[in-house]
Formats: sequence, C-alpha cells, structure tokens
Amino acid sequence: MSKIVINSCQPLSGEVNISGSKNAALPVLAATILVDGKSILENIPSLSDIDYMCEILSVLDCLAVRRSDGTIEIDSTSSKPHSVPYELTGKLRASFLITGPLLARYGRARVALPGGCSIGTRPVDLHLKGLAALGGEYFISDGYVDIKSTKLKGTRVCLDFPSVGATQNIMMAATLAEGETTIENCASEPEITDLADFLISCGAHISGAGTDTITVSGVKRLKPTSYSIISDRIEAGTFMLAALATHGSIRIKNINLAHLSAVTAKLAEIGVIAEPIQNGVVVNGNCQKKATDIKTMPFPGFPTDMQSQIAAALCCAEGTSVITETIFENRFMYVPELIRMNADIKVEGRTAVITGTDSLIGAEVSATDLRAGAALVIAGLCARGKTVINNAEYIKRGYYNLDSKLSSLGAVICYEE
Ligand code: UD1
Repeated sequence: MSKIVINSCQPLSGEVNISGSKNAALPVLAATILVDGKSILENIPSLSDIDYMCEILSVLDCLAVRRSDGTIEIDSTSSKPHSVPYELTGKLRASFLITGPLLARYGRARVALPGGCSIGTRPVDLHLKGLAALGGEYFISDGYVDIKSTKLKGTRVCLDFPSVGATQNIMMAATLAEGETTIENCASEPEITDLADFLISCGAHISGAGTDTITVSGVKRLKPTSYSIISDRIEAGTFMLAALATHGSIRIKNINLAHLSAVTAKLAEIGVIAEPIQNGVVVNGNCQKKATDIKTMPFPGFPTDMQSQIAAALCCAEGTSVITETIFENRFMYVPELIRMNADIKVEGRTAVITGTDSLIGAEVSATDLRAGAALVIAGLCARGKTVINNAEYIKRGYYNLDSKLSSLGAVICYEE
C-alpha cells in the first residue's frame, strides 16, 4: 500500500505546469478503436488509469506504443472486438467507453460491466439506452454486456440526465452510423468538446459539442490523425485550492481558464483572486477567507470532481459553508477522515455543513477515492504536524507527479511505498 506523507504547513509559492487531462484522454483513447489506422495522441498524462485503458486496447489488438514525451501511438488497423474481462474493466469505469466504438466499427461488443465504485453505483443504463436507440441489441449475462447490430442507424436520443460517459459513448457510436443522430440533454463538459474535436479531426461530422444538443452525421470511415489532449481542469483547480488553503501564491500554467469559471467564481466569493495570465492564472491565497455555499452541477456548474477539494479548503474559512452534492450519491466518504484532522463537518444526506476552525491538525487518514485523496492532500498541506495518507494509489490514478509538483512549490511531501 502506497502512502503520502506531508509535513508542511507553509504557503505554497512558485509556478506549476498542469498535465494533460485524464478524463479527456480516456474517451479519446477509446475512440481510436473507430479509426482505421494509427492515431497519434499528445499531452497524455502518465497515470495508471491511462495504462489500464491501454491494456484494454491491447486486448482488442490495438497496438499502443507509449513514449516518454507524453505521446501515445495507437494502431487500430488490425483491431478485433474480443471480449474484455472484468479483471480489466473493473479497474476503471471509463472502460465502458469502448462499447460504442466497438459496436460502430464491428457491429458487436462484449464488455464486462465495470461495476460500482466508492462514490456511487454508477449505472450504465443511459449508455445502453442510447446505443439501443441507434440499433444495438443488447443482453446482459454473467456480468457481461453483449451488444450487436447489423448496421447502426442515426436517430434522436434524449438523455434522462446529461451523463458525460453516455454522451461520449453515443457520440462515438453515431460517427459511423447511417444518417443523422441528435443527442439532446447531452453533457457539455470540456472533455466532450475535446472528444468531438478529436473525432472531427478524424473526419467525423459533429456539431453542437459544448452545448446541450449534439448532432452527428455518420461517415463511412474515420481516418488517422495526430491530436493533442486538453489540459486537466481538475488538476488545475486542485492546485488553486491548495494555494487558497495554504495562504500561498502560485502561478498555474498550461490551463484553459474558461474551463474553470465555476471554480474561479467560488474563489472570488471566498475572497481569493484568480488573476488570468497568458495560458494560465495566478492564485493568491494570502487573505482572509470567507465561507461559501456550493452545489455540484453538470458543466458549466461547479464540478463534482472538485467538491471534496473545496470542502478541505473551506475547513479553515471564517463562518459556515454548505456543500450540496447532486451528481453522485456517495461523495462525502472523505468527511470522517477530515474530522480526524480537526475539521468541523456534519453530513446529512447529500449536504455537508462545514464550520471553519482555526487550524487542521495532521493525522493518519485514508483516501477512499481519487478526489477524496486530493482533498486530504490539501488538508495535509495546511495542517499543523504530520499527515499520512493511506491508499495513495488512488491519487496516482489522477495526478501526475503530485509529490514533485507540490515539492517544487515548497511543500514537504513524499510518497512512501
Ligand atoms: C465522468 C468523469 C468523472 C466525473 C463525472 C461527472 C471520466 C472518466 N469520469 O464520469 O470524473 O465525476 O463525469 O462530471 O470522465 N448515470 C446514470 N446512468 C448512466 C450514466 C450515468 O444514472 O448510464 C448517473 C451516474 O450514476 C451519476 C450521474 O449520472 O450519478 C453522472 O454520471 P456521468 O456524467 O455519466 O459520469 P461519468 O461519465 O461516469
């Protein structure tokens, strides 16, 4: 079991570069199954979730070659719709994103259901309903989804909820369907737009990505391309909150601030100014922090993936903050761990009430998921004394070199295996 040890409690200062987005890279990796040839993807973060997705692609005979400069080449020329077992799909939820591309390119997919995870049950009903509307016939047995179609046909799909994954799966499948597909009430996250941009650069006809209705006109084939993934807005937001919590001042480079409007709006309410600079932002957290209320929402609302980090940062703000989680049913698992560090938080249902305290105190705690782990890192960076975070593997799934990036900003932090 890997741990993170933090013994810091000083303002962060300096400059940090944000890596490529994990959540944008995973669907684009899945989309390479649609491409007849070799895709070259740049700005791919070196993370375990990316490794798992590459393992899944190799089961499908897509040849993935990873280079040290953050490039991955994936040759899908000889790919096959082999069955993908639970031992791989169970490692990451995004594995289910291969279903739409396999169905579109080969007319069939057999993929083990990824199962739930610690933040919620995370069903895939919306993915399956959308693929069925395009003509995929599916049945579920022995924990696998088998889905088949002689030819997908464009149609109108209206999602019950703007699910990011379902929008991505349906959009990918529709690129090779016959005729036009509209996806209504779809997700509009930057990762959706990035996937659409990748597909468009392969010759797909897609409009409306980034709005609540996407239209896809099917084409016969997608051609190989080179594509650079967007930077990770959640990593960037995590560093912003680390600056806030430690009263630090940091320059965060290689970001698109437009992807972080909901986060910068909340920083302003708390009293922290995020000043835009070219290709980045300067966050100065050396000020009095006020409590605020937050409700997680689909983009452009406040991201659920930043909920735990802002909760940690608000533990020492003046007054009482109320956080409401509307996306996942079980996303307050980190709260008992923060309470072990002297936080004053009460959870009732989907709401957490945080009363600011003078100071957090270091303790041994455990990460329950990736973003919970990030929240504990933020808490550890501003706590008095030593913090040990168990289950640090979770953090490695989503933050490239978090320890060395924070060390370069003056934190005393390291991984221990
Ligand atoms: C993606 C992100 C994740 C982020 C989430 C919400 C990736 C790899 N992961 O996850 O980090 O927290 O978006 O921004 O990009 N739902 C259903 N049925 C479905 C699909 C989803 O009920 O078929 C529900 C989920 O249980 C959840 C809500 O819809 O309550 C949102 O899920 P969704 O937007 O699909 O999240 P993911 O794509 O899994």
